[in-house]
Amino acid sequence: MCSPQYFTVRDVKNPFMAGSVVDLDRAVRQWEALRSAFLDAGLRVEVMDAVEDLEDMVFAANPVFVGATRGKPLVVPSSMRHESRRREVPHYVAWFDRRGYEIVDAGLEGEYLEGHGDLLWHPGRDRVWAGYGFRSSQGGVERVSGAMRERGVEVTPLHLVDETFYHLDTCFAPLNEEAALVFAPALDDRAMTALSSAWARLYRVDRTDALGFACNGVVAGRRYVSSPVSPALAEILRREGLEPLEVDLSEFEKAGGSAFCLKTFVA
Ligand code: ARG
Repeated sequence: MCSPQYFTVRDVKNPFMAGSVVDLDRAVRQWEALRSAFLDAGLRVEVMDAVEDLEDMVFAANPVFVGATRGKPLVVPSSMRHESRRREVPHYVAWFDRRGYEIVDAGLEGEYLEGHGDLLWHPGRDRVWAGYGFRSSQGGVERVSGAMRERGVEVTPLHLVDETFYHLDTCFAPLNEEAALVFAPALDDRAMTALSSAWARLYRVDRTDALGFACNGVVAGRRYVSSPVSPALAEILRREGLEPLEVDLSEFEKAGGSAFCLKTFVA
């Protein structure tokens, strides 16, 4: 995770940010509650220093894509669409470089790729689901796909079609190797067909849950750490062996992000 001390909303990078005014004290308390929830769920948490002026740096999911292929950890530095967020990338890359991760150049010149906002690992498989259309570009997904294929990982592109759900992690959430949540109207037909054939259980969440960032949860052991979810969705999670651990992250939702966006997994 990255410290929230400089978090604010300055410009409108996604529809959630329009007209948003952040209460920083409240944001800091919510971020601490999320950190505690991750610890309660059994995760180890490392916190990176924030950098002044980089107001979205708290959204650790985006500046790098993290993985391990053939047992070796790697990161793919992102090519962020917005100038302010491009400046976050070297800070994250340096953090992983110091810890011995291979830094993979995916050849992203002229393309966009936004880390785990759009690139989601399929649990238990050498497979990544890749959203594009609003933030990551189709070409960016093709480039990372090439780099990962050389390492034995299959990357499947998914076209996002509703600008409110601008990152794949706002409308799709793998729960385990066989089950995932999806807000179907955010993806095109072809993407839905690809998902339907790969997941034994693909649960469709409704617009209210999706707008409440229900798909932006973190699976940690037997918990699903996320913004509050509806009783119907809580039931689905329990059927998959996951107990909901709800955290109020409303200040971060004003910037278009929730639990999944506020961390990156280290491999
Ligand atoms: N304000 C940030 C942006 O628009 C939010 C990023 C949320 N991160 C995510 N993984 N969806 O870039």
